[in-house]
Amino acid sequence: MIRQVCINCGEEHEADEIVYFCRRCGDLLEIEYDYEELAERLERSDWRSLPLSVWRYRDFLPIRDLSKVVSLNEGGTGLHLCSRLAKVIGLKRVYVKNEGENPTGSFKDRGMTVGVTKALELNMKTVICASTGNTSASLAAYAAKAGLRCIVLVPSGKIAYGKLVQALAYGAEIVQVRGNFDQALRTVIELSERHGEVYLLNSINPYRLEGQKSLAYEVCDQLGGRAPDRVVLPVGNAGNISALWKGFTEFYRLGLVDSLPRMVGVQAEGASPIAQAIKRGSDVVTPVENPETVATAIRIGAPVSWKKALRAIRDSDGTAETVTDEEILEAQSMLARCEGLFVEPASASSIAGLKKMVELGEIDRDETVVCVATGHGLKDPDVMRRVGKPLEADADVQSIERLLGLTRPSRIEAS
Ligand code: F0G
Repeated sequence: MIRQVCINCGEEHEADEIVYFCRRCGDLLEIEYDYEELAERLERSDWRSLPLSVWRYRDFLPIRDLSKVVSLNEGGTGLHLCSRLAKVIGLKRVYVKNEGENPTGSFKDRGMTVGVTKALELNMKTVICASTGNTSASLAAYAAKAGLRCIVLVPSGKIAYGKLVQALAYGAEIVQVRGNFDQALRTVIELSERHGEVYLLNSINPYRLEGQKSLAYEVCDQLGGRAPDRVVLPVGNAGNISALWKGFTEFYRLGLVDSLPRMVGVQAEGASPIAQAIKRGSDVVTPVENPETVATAIRIGAPVSWKKALRAIRDSDGTAETVTDEEILEAQSMLARCEGLFVEPASASSIAGLKKMVELGEIDRDETVVCVATGHGLKDPDVMRRVGKPLEADADVQSIERLLGLTRPSRIEAS
């Protein structure tokens, strides 16, 4: 039994009702299962023998007709033990879950494989989203695979070039709107409410978040059936932190792990309404009017899932932190140089946030920490100007030796 339940008043909505907000109070919805039924199904299931991927967890997902699944082989991303990074930061064990390894290079693919499959189940012909870039790239790819029309609204001039190129290549109809992400989101919500045949796949859609929770399941399985002590991730529109928390709590509830992690949300200083609310100890979030950060993926002033995010942080005894653009870019470079992982600025904010918390003495040296690197570095090459320029030389051995200070090998004399 699957239901869409209001996170505020508990009102239940049918699984197949096309609804994005509670019909009674207007708050966000969440997918709920009959967990006893799920536990029984798991006993009969061969899920543990399936390879790591989103669909390994099909029993935990709200899709019953597997013949409709739209997949590009998402999930199963690396959980990298980052010893050199840990040493620099001053911790014993830091892992990076590298979501850039997904088909379109971000964690959004976990959500879209489920969300677009749901769109097919519901017989929708058009899908729509507002995006700072990654959501549009991902939706465009899955819509292409499913043969659906895809419309995306992006803030004009403010999204990373690589992401725009992806969405165009996959054939989406892209509209650059004169406004920021928050305005674009308000517009697509209204459009999908006026046009019933247009299915909204922003993270308001609870089916999409069901796919994203698989990241938490994978981390537990990759750690050998244990949850980490702490999970650090960037927060923008605030869907992902709540999806991950749901995943961890479900594994805990089903007896698949025996502890829960503390969730740490990291935001860029110029776009940090959730971190500010946590620091103030407030139950409401005050939107940031003109959000600004080099991490364009999380350049969001009015996160739609703020209530879910505050709950995830408080229920997990977690926290939120802000980082400057400078700290983000420094962390991006550090992760690439220490660990060979090139991630986009928003993703690097989790590393920057972790570093800051260690410096502030807020994290125990012995904790097992997982940082989520949400998207690939190649999506946003512009910000990497600070990596420096290549050197230049004539194409001969002597020039290169001189340039790089390579000493000439001494000749081995024939005896
Ligand atoms: N990291 C990256 C790389 C993202 O693209 C996003 C969100 C986040 C983190 C934050 O996740 O919104 O669930 O809190 N990108 C959205 C987009 C907004 O349109 O691509 P969140």
